[in-house]
Amino acid sequence: MNISVLGTGYVGLVVGACLSETGNNVICADIDRAKIDRLTNNDIPIYEPGLDPLVQRNQREHRLSFTTDLATAISSAEVVFIAVGTPMGEDGSADLEYVLRAAEHVGRHMAREIVVVTKSTVPVGSSGKVRNAIAKHAKFPFYLCSNPEFLKEGTAVEDFMRPDRVVLGIDSERARTVMTEIYSPFLRTGKPILVMDIPSAEMTKYAANGMLATRISFMNEIANLCDKLGANVDSVRKGIGSDSRIGQSFLFPGPGYGGSCFPKDVKALVRTGSECGVPLDVLAGVETANDRQKKVLLGKVRSALGNELKGRRVAVWGLAFKAGTDDMREAPALALIDALLTEGVSVCAHDPAAIDHARSLLGNRIDYAETNYEALVGADALVVVTDWNEYRHPDFERVKRTLKQPVIVDGRNLYDVEKMRALGVRYHSIGRPSA
Ligand SMILES: NC(=O)c1ccc[n+]([C@@H]2O[C@H](COP(=O)([O-])OP(=O)(O)OC[C@H]3O[C@@H](n4cnc5c(N)ncnc54)[C@H](O)[C@@H]3O)[C@@H](O)[C@H]2O)c1
Repeated sequence: MNISVLGTGYVGLVVGACLSETGNNVICADIDRAKIDRLTNNDIPIYEPGLDPLVQRNQREHRLSFTTDLATAISSAEVVFIAVGTPMGEDGSADLEYVLRAAEHVGRHMAREIVVVTKSTVPVGSSGKVRNAIAKHAKFPFYLCSNPEFLKEGTAVEDFMRPDRVVLGIDSERARTVMTEIYSPFLRTGKPILVMDIPSAEMTKYAANGMLATRISFMNEIANLCDKLGANVDSVRKGIGSDSRIGQSFLFPGPGYGGSCFPKDVKALVRTGSECGVPLDVLAGVETANDRQKKVLLGKVRSALGNELKGRRVAVWGLAFKAGTDDMREAPALALIDALLTEGVSVCAHDPAAIDHARSLLGNRIDYAETNYEALVGADALVVVTDWNEYRHPDFERVKRTLKQPVIVDGRNLYDVEKMRALGVRYHSIGRPSA
């Protein structure tokens, strides 16, 4: 099938590469020339495990190509995926400007009957606006599909190749037939295609992210209470996660959620609710709790080093909003670093993938280390912010030797409290006893 994907960010690039892997001819188009130039040269602008070989192989075998020429990409397509960004607008709603601009391009340049798929996360009811934007210029019939994406950065290729489910919001048989054909190679293990109306598909995406963010904020608040009452959140987590109605996933407390999706999608859903006169108090609380959680690590640094932080130096392990990605959008590390700098603390950070992004955001306000151990030199404390695998079992003797004093603030509960105590580390984590 001839497919075009508009937008080659974290979602569009993965979608395009994976769809070419199953034999489709895919053109990925983006308005960012620098990005397209890099992609054409097999230089992948994002860190996403497993993506490089997919792009290289399919580009070499001429099933995948990249262009800034949206007209050519759209005119050759039977199916167009819109995967452009939907950033947070000033009032908290999702900004549809890029989606609608892409939709207008589709209408202007389509050269046959096509299916237009909204992959971007758009508020419930947006399909009407997308339809109008396409229809303004369309000379051929077109069929809409809302196909929200559930991939996770860090495991995006695996998630797309082996999805838990595919959600299709459609209002035509044509869209159902075409989309079922496109997805059938990815669903051979029997995972379902859930076909529904378009508003329900749009709502499913927001409800999924809202639910996941709720679990995180809930556990963060329980952990903070454990801190005060001397309970251990690890035991509590296992205690509740063993209940089959609850399950173990997404119950790990931490420094607050970040990334390009949860913060903006929670805000947008709360906004949609208030526009409709349906207050979403639970989700509004989830957001407030998350904003507060992003300040917890600074409080723990204070507990460890005292209130007067001016002139101290702190090593930060992990800048990306989570392990497996270089994405720093809304990353908890940014909130922590900002707060530390405001206190007059100097910061040296390490991250296996996000240093380039960090430099573009933070410039020379902080120092950057080549290795995680190098970040510790001359530091009064280590703060672990991202749960990269390489931080899970460090050489603790070396950590102790290199730090000015053995202080670790662990925002991901990676280390064993008893082990830290035995090593003589002054150790603070989230919702567990200190050592
Ligand atoms: N990142 C995730 O983990 C994730 C997961 C599921 C859903 N989503 C949703 O998918 C959408 C895309 O997210 P992302 O993280 O890939 O965004 P991104 O910011 O990484 O990429 C968006 C890309 O779209 C391009 N673009 C903007 N306008 C364009 C146009 N008119 N034509 C062609 N390209 C255009 C931009 O240049 C950019 O490269 C968002 O709605 C997001 O909420 C993201």
